[in-house]
Amino acid sequence: MPATVVLGAQWGDEGKAKIVDYLAAGADVVVRFQGGANAGHTVEVGGETWIFHLLPVGVLNDHAVCVIGNGVVLDPESLFSELDELAGRGIPVPPERLRVSGCAHVVLPYHKALDRASEESLGSGALGTTARGIGPAYRDKVARSHALRVMDLLDADLRDRLRSAVRAANDMLTSIYGATPLDVEEVVRQTQGFSERLRPYVDDTSVYLNKALDDGRRVLFEGAQGTLLDIDHGTYPYVTSSNTTAGGACTGTGVGPTRIGEIIGVTKAYMTRVGNGPFPTELLDDEGERIRELGQEYGATTGRARRCGWFDATIARMAGRVNGLTGLALTRLDILDPVERLKLCTAYRHGDLLLEEFPADPRILDKCEPVYEEVDGWCAPTTGARSFADLPAGARAYVRRIEELSGTPVSLISVGPDRDATIRL
Ligand code: IMO
Ligand code: MG
Repeated sequence: MPATVVLGAQWGDEGKAKIVDYLAAGADVVVRFQGGANAGHTVEVGGETWIFHLLPVGVLNDHAVCVIGNGVVLDPESLFSELDELAGRGIPVPPERLRVSGCAHVVLPYHKALDRASEESLGSGALGTTARGIGPAYRDKVARSHALRVMDLLDADLRDRLRSAVRAANDMLTSIYGATPLDVEEVVRQTQGFSERLRPYVDDTSVYLNKALDDGRRVLFEGAQGTLLDIDHGTYPYVTSSNTTAGGACTGTGVGPTRIGEIIGVTKAYMTRVGNGPFPTELLDDEGERIRELGQEYGATTGRARRCGWFDATIARMAGRVNGLTGLALTRLDILDPVERLKLCTAYRHGDLLLEEFPADPRILDKCEPVYEEVDGWCAPTTGARSFADLPAGARAYVRRIEELSGTPVSLISVGPDRDATIRL
């Protein structure tokens, strides 16, 4: 494992954290490359539950150094509250264990206010964001007029730059959304408070990561969100504002594509989505409700009930294609243990046409009907399985069929939240 990328192959919440935590045991460095505190990465270790929004999950492996890459939008408030919680639970994270890119853009209180105001103004057309200020922070990054990067928080002219940034945001809040403006001096005071605390963590993380690879250290790239939430390849506009796909691991860290070995797509044995937007295999009936309860499918960041549906192979093929996946990590197989009959979506019917590829055009997607293959469930527990052979025959057949339909080999299977409940193929 010189450089391995782990990313979501669906709409996020695929169980990436569990897979990252499992693989982090063999990693020296774990790096987040995109997104921000919108992630909800839940890990269970030794009966304790941890939820990370911004820090890489790898922080739980005390031999690994964690990196927040330039592609992340960093909310200092979230960062320090996560670091404080870790310290309070006996895991202090000194600067030697956490390197933060000076080029990462900063999420400030007005980004969150703008995120909320924008969602309210969209009414029933809202995207269903996590309200963590992600879209507005990336918008500032791309607009290049008032954005602040981590390195700017350390700069002597921070106060002036912040004042003009807050004033510009207040103009938008009041004139476009009719929302309450923020107190400029309060934002300045709060942000300055974070500057000194951040300073020892800041680094040129592209240099750091490439040097680590030169030295033969193993680097794990931890994706947030999922392929279908990618700003370019996802179900736009119902997506997040970053490249969640494999290319983002390079642009978001300053590590070149030739250095990446494996790219693992994490995929649930069924599908979920939180927030709005298309979901062709969504179950709006009791079956969907049953899967939600079996899997306790409620969001780790916002607590929202997740929409549930059958495994969709057109999406798995699309994830394989845009990410160049070398393997799938199939998670939550155990959740399907009691389900008597299962469906796998193999393609879509669009009028007279059979579509094998996930359509990029939402107008086409809207008119697509999933084509299902029905299979018997295995109705036996899988949580204790530690090798492929331990799985019931029905579960093995289900995994093999997913592999065939998606065109990517399954390299890991998760049969429970614990680190041990993992099968390597
Ligand atoms: P992890 O890393 C699931 C969804 C939101 C919304 C859309 C845009 O836990 O898989 P944003 O706040 O990013 O502007 O919201 O993206 N979303 C996620 N859904 N898991 C996540 O992260 C998500 N991060 C964002 O629900 O639909
Ligand atoms: Mg989540």
